[in-house]
Amino acid sequence: MREKNNRVNFTSKLGVVLAAAGSAVGLGNVWRFPTEVGNNGGAAFILIYLLCVLAVGVPVMISEFLIGRHTHANTITAFSKLAPGKWWRIEGVAGVFVAFLILSYYTIISGWTLYYLVQSLKGSFLENKDYSACFSSFVSDPYVPLLYAIFFMLMTHLVIARGVQSGIERFSKIMMPMLLLIIVILVVCSFGMPGAGTGLRFLLKPDFSKVTASVVLSAMGQAFFSLSLAMGCLCTYASYFTSDTKLVKTAFSVCTIDTFVAILSGFIIFPAVFSVPNVNPDEGPGLVFVTLPHVFNIAFHSVPILGYLFSGLFYLLLLLAALTSAMSLHESVTAYVIESWGVPRNRAAFLVSVSCMALGVLCCLSFGVLSDFTVCGLTIFGLFDFCASKIIMPVGGLIICLFTGWYLDRKMVYNELTNEGTVTFRLFRVYLFLVRYVVPFAIALIFINELLG
Ligand code: PHE
Repeated sequence: MREKNNRVNFTSKLGVVLAAAGSAVGLGNVWRFPTEVGNNGGAAFILIYLLCVLAVGVPVMISEFLIGRHTHANTITAFSKLAPGKWWRIEGVAGVFVAFLILSYYTIISGWTLYYLVQSLKGSFLENKDYSACFSSFVSDPYVPLLYAIFFMLMTHLVIARGVQSGIERFSKIMMPMLLLIIVILVVCSFGMPGAGTGLRFLLKPDFSKVTASVVLSAMGQAFFSLSLAMGCLCTYASYFTSDTKLVKTAFSVCTIDTFVAILSGFIIFPAVFSVPNVNPDEGPGLVFVTLPHVFNIAFHSVPILGYLFSGLFYLLLLLAALTSAMSLHESVTAYVIESWGVPRNRAAFLVSVSCMALGVLCCLSFGVLSDFTVCGLTIFGLFDFCASKIIMPVGGLIICLFTGWYLDRKMVYNELTNEGTVTFRLFRVYLFLVRYVVPFAIALIFINELLG
């Protein structure tokens, strides 16, 4: 289906919501969120996170949707169209650049999930062994993680090369329902484990003594990362929305699904983690790759079939989540290459996959042979993640808000968000107030605090 702008669009409302939710729901929900919760005081972090989603995430997402749908173009062209000859274009460039950067390291972690899925199907988590050592030797291996990452990139590439409707929309409609079903099954299984009560208490009882400025920054970085904000992904997807897509409603649906999945992932992981002795919830990034295999082994040793099922489903969940997110990162860059360089989709997708993988090699090796190579104490992987989620994304969010709140014509913003007045948006003033004052102020404040601290 093509609209009057002669550009391909998503064909259904469900396709729109599932594709955008597919971008948002990813490793950030299932892997990064529980890790951050574990490290930052459980429920206190969740409360701050919810506040960040409502006050910052939703308005930024609405703004991205409006920029993308109004221009029907890739992110860089979108900013150029709305502000010809102005510096605002830099935000578009930063968005595409950061999508490329994130895809390079996202692919590596996604490759790990693929490897762990294979291991769980082989029954490796039913053996008694040192999972921490297994994980370290796997990630520091110069070849194996790379092979899995290449395989993962190939899967992403094949979807993107098929295009918006028969690639992104079609696969999102298959993978997202599967993913949600798996989550429900895993939550039910996890609630039946002996440590369910302790795990839930950890998740639901706030420890405010752990809340510092840097925890707040982490919560905001996590919200940006988890909602796929400020890197052109949602802006690019919105450029495929039709003129009757309800932007505000879609943004609320996507934020709700994303937050739901993040919290449910906590409901899956912590009851399981607290069900075995001597395992801590604040294990850091190793939580799902070291702690969980250990949990699978102890909890299901006597019923191996459950072990296969639980661990297999869990890593399949991670893989599906990673794939739908990687698709949006890839599309953000590919759409730019297609439209600005005039390259056909197949070749553009190929260019992006190969160049991203080249950068990914550096990230991958930073867990092994290049682990001693650090910048400001961070490995290449750490540096990419820090620059992306703690600097470029929040600053990008700030610029997007200033752009829609102060630069764009208020009437045009209103018309776009209400589909030319055909749908109501009662909270328009609240939205405007948030993007004009609250979000820029919050981001600036947290940054200054971080700098002074
Ligand atoms: N939101 C995704 C996640 O939660 C990651 C992502 C970031 C995807 C940015 C696209 C763009 O894992």
